[in-house]
Parts: sequence; structure tokens; C-alpha cells
Amino acid sequence: MPATIIDGKKIAEDIKSETKFEADKLKAERGITPGLAFILVGENPASQSYVKMKGKGCDEMGFYSITEKLPAETSESKILQLINQFNHDPKIHGILVQLPLPKHIDEEIIISAIDYRKDVDGFHPINIGRMVIGSPCLKPCTPAGIQELLIRSGNDPAGKHVVIVGRSNIVGKPIANILLQKQKGANAIVTIAHTGAKDISYYSRQADILIAAMGKPECITGDMIKSGAVVIDVGINRVEDISTKSGYRIVGDVHFESTSKVASAITPVPGGVGPMTIAMVLRNTLLCAQDKIYTSK
Ligand code: GUN
Repeated sequence: MPATIIDGKKIAEDIKSETKFEADKLKAERGITPGLAFILVGENPASQSYVKMKGKGCDEMGFYSITEKLPAETSESKILQLINQFNHDPKIHGILVQLPLPKHIDEEIIISAIDYRKDVDGFHPINIGRMVIGSPCLKPCTPAGIQELLIRSGNDPAGKHVVIVGRSNIVGKPIANILLQKQKGANAIVTIAHTGAKDISYYSRQADILIAAMGKPECITGDMIKSGAVVIDVGINRVEDISTKSGYRIVGDVHFESTSKVASAITPVPGGVGPMTIAMVLRNTLLCAQDKIYTSK
């Protein structure tokens, strides 16, 4: 039987509706409009498109948002100055510096300069540390979105063997930590495989839930997974395709056609994890504006 398609677009819409409902309440009861500041450095087309989509999401939610577009040669101190300004701006509850940054800028310094209570990306060392020890924190958006996708599609990871392929700071490492926690919607047995493995398929075949996040187009194929596995495809890769108007098409890290014949459920690309990342940025902005996370503990 072909796999069920996990509809990330629909689940993201549900989360956005819940977020808008809470945001409207926050406005009515406390007069607070959630505000998000984007910092975009350089001309990376993918980054420009992501920031545009997140800004559009803010508009849909009735959030205030501002985008600072800076040239690629902007100095590190100029960006730090801007972050400091947003850190102290009461209209701004969230700050998002789109990555990657140009080579001359140290991403670690930039991320650490953001007030951790406004870190909607969940990349600040304080948020990462709290996530690892299972304390309330702002969680990184793509991993938090994957957890929501699993729960809301009826694939609770509790007791399941989750194999993650990829060890990035944005996806691989945080999703492993999130799903490992002894908490509701987690409690999984987690393996992280990566490019250092001689044979990725040795690990991927053991997965009840496979999360492909290595950034390699269509790398996971049907013969690399166990029958009935749940497959989450985090990849967004442009591959050349002369039959399309743009000259390229978007594919995931999973070869959809072969894998969907073996899996029990699978996320499509586009329309799987991508919309979830945006929904979680908006939800994190709301959480920052509600100021609940760091006052409860
Ligand atoms: N670049 C790729 N993914 C992300 C993300 O989730 N947040 C930011 N800020 N930059 C990214």
C-alpha cells in the first residue's frame, strides 16, 4: 500500500490559526501586538525568499514586523549595533537573523548577541542548553515543527527508534535532543547518522521514524528504509530541470517515488516540513510576546 502523505501545509495552517487566536487575545486583553525583526544580510536568493515568506506569515497573524536588508559587505559591528537596538525595542519581541551570513561575519557572535528571550530561532546558547537539559525554552523552528508534525499526524515518537541522518546545528542535533527528552511527544530512542558513516543504509534501515536532514538531493531511496517506516524529509534542494520554466525544480533529501512505496507515511517536498518552520517562527514570536517561557521557571 502506498504511504500516507503527511500534509505539512494543513498542519501548519492549524498551528497558524491557533497562533492568530492567541495573538488576538493578547492584543485584546493586554494591548500587546507581537513584533518580529528580521535581519537579512546579502543577496542569497533562498534567504530572501525565506524572509519574505516569514514576513508574509507575520502579516497574516496581524503581527508587527520589520525587515532590515543589509549589503553583503556590512560589518559585524553594524549588525551587533542593530541587534542591540532591537534587544531594547519594546515593540520587538522576536529577532531573526537569517543564516547563512557572509563569511567575514562570525555567526556565533551574532546569535549570542540576541537577547535569549527574543531568540525566535532558538539558536542562542542559553536556549540550546536549556533544550538539552529539558527546561522550558524557545526551541529551534524546524525541529519543533517536525515534532508537531509527528504528533499531529498520529505518529507519536514515544518508544520508537528515530534515526536522524544529518548533524547540523539547525536540524540534526536539536531534533535529536528534542525527541530524546523524557517528555510528552518525545521519549524516543535516537540515533544520529551522518556523512562519517561508511554505509548510511545500515542505520536508516533500522528506523521506525527516519528524519532525512543531510542536504543531499534524493539521497534516501526506498531500498534504504524498513517497510512501514515513517519518513520525514527536511531537504529543500534545487536541482536542474530544463523542462521547467525556471530551469530547476525543488526536491527533498528523499527519493519520493521509491520511498513512498515502502514507507507507511511520508512528508512531501514541498508541502511537508517547510510550512511547519514558518508556522513555528510565528508561534515562537507569540510565545516571546506573551513572555511566559522565562517567567514560569
Ligand atoms: N537558514 C536556514 N534555516 C534557518 C532558520 O531556521 N533560521 C534562520 N535564521 N536561518 C536559517
